[in-house]
Amino acid sequence: MKLGIIGTGRIGGGLARQLAGAGHELKLSFSRDPGKLEELARELGAGASAGTPAEAVDFGEVIVISVPWGVLPQALEQAGSLAGKIVIDTTNQFGAPPLPPEGETAAHFNAARMPGARYTKCFNTLTSAFQAEAAGRQGEERVVQWLCGDDAKAKEIVAGLVEDAGFVPVDLGGTAKCSVMEAPRRDGAVYGEEYRASDARAAVEAVRAGRTIPPTPRYRSAG
Ligand SMILES: NC(=O)c1ccc[n+]([C@@H]2O[C@H](COP(=O)([O-])OP(=O)(O)OC[C@H]3O[C@@H](n4cnc5c(N)ncnc54)[C@H](OP(=O)(O)O)[C@@H]3O)[C@@H](O)[C@H]2O)c1
Repeated sequence: MKLGIIGTGRIGGGLARQLAGAGHELKLSFSRDPGKLEELARELGAGASAGTPAEAVDFGEVIVISVPWGVLPQALEQAGSLAGKIVIDTTNQFGAPPLPPEGETAAHFNAARMPGARYTKCFNTLTSAFQAEAAGRQGEERVVQWLCGDDAKAKEIVAGLVEDAGFVPVDLGGTAKCSVMEAPRRDGAVYGEEYRASDARAAVEAVRAGRTIPPTPRYRSAG
């Protein structure tokens, strides 16, 4: 697929490497030093190029937005309209306002900041170092990436990209009720925790039923 990446730091850059490795074409964007985008594009090979956020949006069927919360308004302004595009938002609400009001998820809040986008949120619950280490694990040790969104078809496509990146996609449901995959790390949430497919189903069932999720699973370290 053609993917536009807005923000190629720890998370966006890691994802770019994983998805380029799976054969996707990428347009990399949004840096204070455009030379860094060119350098990453060279590292990723013929399918990758650098551009502006607006060029990344124009290029991509799917747009990954992976920037610090405080610069999201700036990134969205440079991106222009996202209408009709599948968006993967990796952001967490650490930083300057505007922030979601009490009781509203960051995913629901951000979806409203991207009018017409086929919004999803994913790749936000695990540290960049852990994601880099865990991508591509095999069998029962494969790690879950939670996703949410209000467009079922968009989530199917994003689930395919999660697999391509080397993880197991698990759909938690719509943006309004995905708070368990959002910061901060706390009891009763999947945010910040490693999950594997075998333990994910019970968490999804609990979220859908409005119940507290079962205790966080603990795994012996892989490898
Ligand atoms: N790091 C994690 O472990 C982690 C885990 C899960 C989710 N997240 C979330 O994912 C999002 C991205 O996190 P990250 O850790 O990948 O961020 P990061 O490493 O700081 O990367 C930020 C990206 O935005 C670009 N950027 C452009 N203008 C910027 C500006 N004015 N200020 C700061 N950056 C600017 C940076 O490019 P230049 O530096 O080249 O300008 C860089 O490519 C955040 O919302 C974060 O909460 C992070």
